[in-house]
Amino acid sequence: MAEYETIEFDVLIIGAGGAGLRAAIEASSTGISVGLVCKSLLGKAHTVMAEGGMAAALANVDERDSWKTHFADTMRGGYYINNWRMAQLHAQQAPDRVRELEAWGAVFDRTREGKIMQRNFGGHAHPRLAHVGDRTGLEMIRTLQDHGIHQGIDVHMECTVTSLLMDGDRVAGAFAYARELGKFKLFKAKAIVMATGGIGRAYKITSNSWEYTGDGQSLAYHAGADLIDMEFVQFHPTGMVWPPSVRGILVTEGVRGEGGVLKNSSGERFMFGDIPDNYKSSTADNPEEGWRYVTKTDRNARRPPELLTRDHVARCILKEVKAGRGSPHGGAFLDISWIKEKIPNAEAHIKKKLPSMYHQFKELAGIDITTEPMEVGPTTHYVMGGIRVDGETQMSTVPGLFAAGECAAGLHGANRLGGNSLSDLIVFGKLAGEHAARFAQENGKPAISDADVNSALLEALAPLDSSRATNAGGAYQIQYDLQEMMQSNVGIIRQEDEMLEAVQGIEALKQRAANVAAPGNRQYNPGWHTALDLKSLLLAAEAVARSAIVRKESRGAHTRDDYKNKEEKFDSVNTIVRMGKDGQMQVTLESIPKIPAELKQIIDDHK
Ligand code: FUM
Repeated sequence: MAEYETIEFDVLIIGAGGAGLRAAIEASSTGISVGLVCKSLLGKAHTVMAEGGMAAALANVDERDSWKTHFADTMRGGYYINNWRMAQLHAQQAPDRVRELEAWGAVFDRTREGKIMQRNFGGHAHPRLAHVGDRTGLEMIRTLQDHGIHQGIDVHMECTVTSLLMDGDRVAGAFAYARELGKFKLFKAKAIVMATGGIGRAYKITSNSWEYTGDGQSLAYHAGADLIDMEFVQFHPTGMVWPPSVRGILVTEGVRGEGGVLKNSSGERFMFGDIPDNYKSSTADNPEEGWRYVTKTDRNARRPPELLTRDHVARCILKEVKAGRGSPHGGAFLDISWIKEKIPNAEAHIKKKLPSMYHQFKELAGIDITTEPMEVGPTTHYVMGGIRVDGETQMSTVPGLFAAGECAAGLHGANRLGGNSLSDLIVFGKLAGEHAARFAQENGKPAISDADVNSALLEALAPLDSSRATNAGGAYQIQYDLQEMMQSNVGIIRQEDEMLEAVQGIEALKQRAANVAAPGNRQYNPGWHTALDLKSLLLAAEAVARSAIVRKESRGAHTRDDYKNKEEKFDSVNTIVRMGKDGQMQVTLESIPKIPAELKQIIDDHK
């Protein structure tokens, strides 16, 4: 039997993006011992792909903004199936969390008066995104790392967790391997915070890098936790489409926030052709000027239709491509260079506000965005569904297991507004850290059985078994086949027969994965790492496909060709995914608790 090292903490945080770091800072500020495990190098997280800003009603640029408007926008963007308590806490607490980041050293862009600058983003009624050019997520990570490093948090980098270990129903630890040398680690903890991010690598075209294989969702599910709303996968409308090697890389919504417009191959701003009813106002369009009024609450706020919600913009781009009006490589044109007609020194302005985009297109596509349009198309960016948590404490349905950030669910409902993810990370990262610390202080040490550790160890070693020379195809081939299938069968536009085919396909891939062989040993063996990732990837994909079949309607990011409309019977329900007693995945529907009258009133006032 291979050896393993045992390490003990009061609280273990799995994942070191914005949510994990913020949770670690909060938990360790109470004086308890905190461990932080990350799959990659510290600082390399999908958080940095939230480039355009963090949403918080600071009201620095438009003084009419308030937590109530932010709350109402988030609920409307989520098609009202959000966890309303989380949406309330998020809108109320985001401004303080942003100011706290500033106090910890984050260098935000400034207004002329020296306040934190805020920009427009899709679905937000006011300029609300505090930003640092187009590198906001990076600045958030830098600041949290700088702050956290002095608190004595014990960081385990390049370390992947393969199983959670239990003491009865309560979580008790995590089994992991260090990627470089393949050495095993057993982490014992009184409480665990899951902050592992999303599932983007289950799709072929994605803004997510290799780490995002649904680990947190899968670990929690196998520990007995509920997942909710997994059908809601966000396809960000603007990823790069050309050249093929960079397809999917994010083109920040900040480009549209700074005035970028979308055009088809005929040079038409097609977004004017399709404004959803819930964003229409009685005020007339002004396409000549390039604006349309799209907020009812604020008759004077002029919003370009490019800043409608992501689900809608992604579908509109797809429609243009299908109608033969797409760009040469199957996307649409995004043009920021036109602002030179409007503002002096446009070139310098673009380079200042969008420095990463300027370099990204210059280096990767040979395009100068200050003079030429970009080619863009939808890319898998984010999953709104995930681990079900209590809105107040962030504890999952498993005692002692908490979750925050993208791997948790509830705040965003059927569709997330851009910029709400960075604020989600700091608001709920803090709450998860605080409540996990409290849980650890109030509960004794759980026990872990040797038998459970041994079976976690054997499971991790299985792909290295040399007698496993099968015809299953290597781990990479299985991942590739899954990505192709999810992209074509459970993508932006869905229908029953294709999704059923996907579920069958996933079953077949599970059989192949159960026998997959990773030649070599535990040292420097990425084939083995990929073989181990397959369990999470396949679980996440299955949860998405099965939930999407059950939700027989179109809502937010979940668009069905066979059920084109939003259905009343789904107005107030979440899809719940859990493991049945027979070990099979079960998907059920559950009503959302009734929204309190005062919150309902806020929504009505902002309609
Ligand atoms: O487009 C972006 O900058 C992404 C932001 C987000 O996902 O919140």
